[in-house]
Amino acid sequence: MKLSLIVAIGKNNEIGKENQLLCRLSSDLKRFKALTTGHAIVMGRKTYQSLPSGALPNRTNIVLSHGKNLHLEACAVFTSLDAALVHLRNETEIFIIGGGTLYQQALPIADKLYLTKIHATFPEADTFFPPIDYSEWKLIATETTPANEKNDYDSTFYEYEHV
Ligand SMILES: NC(=O)c1ccc[n+]([C@@H]2O[C@H](COP(=O)([O-])OP(=O)(O)OC[C@H]3O[C@@H](n4cnc5c(N)ncnc54)[C@H](OP(=O)(O)O)[C@@H]3O)[C@@H](O)[C@H]2O)c1
Repeated sequence: MKLSLIVAIGKNNEIGKENQLLCRLSSDLKRFKALTTGHAIVMGRKTYQSLPSGALPNRTNIVLSHGKNLHLEACAVFTSLDAALVHLRNETEIFIIGGGTLYQQALPIADKLYLTKIHATFPEADTFFPPIDYSEWKLIATETTPANEKNDYDSTFYEYEHV
């Protein structure tokens, strides 16, 4: 079982504002879909609530909440990350898809990091990715997408493995 984090961050590690993404880059949304489809995705309750149409299709949706009686359509709800990971132990790859509280908990134990850096700052951001110690991560692949009619900002995708 491989544990992977997938995230898009601004120049200051920003990831969200008012429980929404900072921006929607078509290239990044496509990559997110391609990487996560067919796998389990694990998210915090607030990220779940930010999804425009609820659970994401063709993926096993796992939501973490301390609320014991929370029932969400097409999702399994767990009250701890450990319990969710035990439940998913037979999966090949599990994606932690946010938000800030989940990234904070999972970064130290993750095997892979799929990181999109948006080449912009977002002063209105209120949620951040934790600091990354790059000496702990080996770069596997990188790809830059310039801004265009479908992408408001330049961005660079990095794939890392925990060393
Ligand atoms: N840029 C990106 O790639 C990206 C990706 C995802 C999300 N985001 C953004 O991130 C923001 C949301 O992040 P956030 O940090 O505010 O919230 P979050 O991490 O999505 O959700 C936090 C909630 O998750 C539950 N939770 C977290 N850890 C838990 C644990 N170990 N056990 C049980 N429950 C747990 C708690 O729910 P209860 O309060 O119900 O107990 C907690 O209040 C939004 O702006 C969203 O758009 C950005």
